[in-house]
Amino acid sequence: MSALPARPIVILISGSGSNMTALVEASRQRRWAQRFGAGVVAVISNRPDAVGLGWAREQGIATAVIDHKQHADRETFDAALMQAIDAHRPALVLLAGFMRILTPGFVRHYEGRLINIHPSLLPAFAGLKTHQRAIEAGCRFAGATVHRVTSELDHGEYLEQAVVPVLPGDTAEALAARVLSQEHMIYPLAVERLLAAG
Ligand code: GAR
Repeated sequence: MSALPARPIVILISGSGSNMTALVEASRQRRWAQRFGAGVVAVISNRPDAVGLGWAREQGIATAVIDHKQHADRETFDAALMQAIDAHRPALVLLAGFMRILTPGFVRHYEGRLINIHPSLLPAFAGLKTHQRAIEAGCRFAGATVHRVTSELDHGEYLEQAVVPVLPGDTAEALAARVLSQEHMIYPLAVERLLAAG
């Protein structure tokens, strides 16, 4: 068994977890353990059926489910989530397609170590259905943003952005796939830069 990293990383997912996979693969290929003492130690989902959980398990990464449907309100859900996360003493908590709005108390607790990726060129199109909204607005470009999390939804310091063209006849699905392939590059890049900065 490999030693626990000095700088543990916990990833939160709700769905397919392709950004999580990109982060885990980058951590290995780019030797984050040796270079920064960092590694992904746990993947936690609010949905028991999140596809990414299976992949994480196969990789030997600890997984947990904190099902929001089993909690009466946001406060009790966030408290249970915090307990599961804090068991790993994370240096960074990475939201990777984690589709829950977090309470201000949760965000404060992880201030400075909580990062998100959002599928738009913020500050445009915070919230949901970003690709459909970009197409309907007639945008020629769309993209993704890696940012620090603050209690205001999809705000906080931008750490990295990627731009893709919106092509004639694009559907939300086609645009989402184009953006997602960029997300897989900029999320690891932004995290690596944070790790290198100490
Ligand atoms: C990604 O496009 C991510 O930016 C987005 O969900 C997708 C998750 O894909 N996140 C949000 O919309 C957060 N509000 P993945 O599970 O394959 O990484």
